[in-house]
Amino acid sequence: MIYMDNAATSLQKPLQVEQAVLEALRTAGNPGRGAHEATLHASRLVYGARAAAAELFDAEDASRIAFTANATEALNIAISGLIRPGDHVITTVCEHNSVLRPLYRLRDQGATLSFVGVDARGNLKYEELEAFLRPETRAVVITGASNVTGNVTDLSYISSFVKRNGLLLIVDASQTAGEELFSVQKLGIDVLCFTGHKALLGPQGTGGLYVKPGLSVEPLLVGGSGIHSYDEHHPKEMPTALEAGTLNVHGLAGLAAGIRYRMDQGIEKLQKRERDLTRRFYEQVKEIPGIIVYGDPAAKSHAPIVSLNLAGEDSARVADALWEEYGICVRAGAHCAPLMHRALGTVGQGVVRFSFSHFNTEEEIERAAEAVRALAEEA
Ligand code: ALA
Repeated sequence: MIYMDNAATSLQKPLQVEQAVLEALRTAGNPGRGAHEATLHASRLVYGARAAAAELFDAEDASRIAFTANATEALNIAISGLIRPGDHVITTVCEHNSVLRPLYRLRDQGATLSFVGVDARGNLKYEELEAFLRPETRAVVITGASNVTGNVTDLSYISSFVKRNGLLLIVDASQTAGEELFSVQKLGIDVLCFTGHKALLGPQGTGGLYVKPGLSVEPLLVGGSGIHSYDEHHPKEMPTALEAGTLNVHGLAGLAAGIRYRMDQGIEKLQKRERDLTRRFYEQVKEIPGIIVYGDPAAKSHAPIVSLNLAGEDSARVADALWEEYGICVRAGAHCAPLMHRALGTVGQGVVRFSFSHFNTEEEIERAAEAVRALAEEA
């Protein structure tokens, strides 16, 4: 099997991740719920994950990281916890449904939305931002990179726009956490939402959010917290404020190991390897007659994604052939990013998305490009 569906989830995990999950399964009690060794050990494991995430994102301190089950939960918390019905939000057509649907729900309650568009290569039209500003504009909610095209957002540009206009900046880092090296402090990010199971190489069911010091986010869930048990209200201190109920300690132990692995190897080194593999694939497939590549994989900064179609062929049929005939795993169809498909003109056809990891080999890239060539000739 050749696994090239890493933007959906990374499948090959470092041994350290497996070992950390197994060790936690055997040893972790419920964190923050007692003083015996098993509960203390669980608390240390969770703190280890918090500290690793805080270091990776350059957060002020570990308490600013709250854990969730996935990026979708983190985005729901950020969006519903900070935006009010009369507010106006600027977002983009690149967003995933994990951003769009919480925003649409708020729009149904009286919030208003503006969408920055993209050009023919799927790059954001940054110049549209100013025109969308209104007195009631409260936030920019934006992805770090499109999960369809892999095009990376210029967050420095967005950050200065947000700062100049006194807005909140909420970033969906599902495709960039662990992939790009950035600092939430330098970028002035108010809330960064991330998943643990993609480039961070952790288990599924892990994710979280960074919240800037001084910013209070209304929680989605309240309940057991292990502290202030006699209070009627859920504690307001981070990270407990956004973590009701027992955490996924086993998963977080694996996430900590994944983040440490990525940092020990060197984020930029792994990113370069993934960029090189992406370019190698792109350079080969772009020349094949009948192939349409979406996005801008030749750009200096690009997530390890190449999305394409074979002339008018249905993307699901192509993905099936890649799997059945070549053992290559990719994602096809709509990628939960409806506005992006509309902008690219791929609503009916979808796109075939190849997404790479540093665990992929040059030989796998050659075989995948060869498979695309063969399928294009048949089409
Ligand atoms: N959001 C994930 C993807 O892009 C699942 O495939």
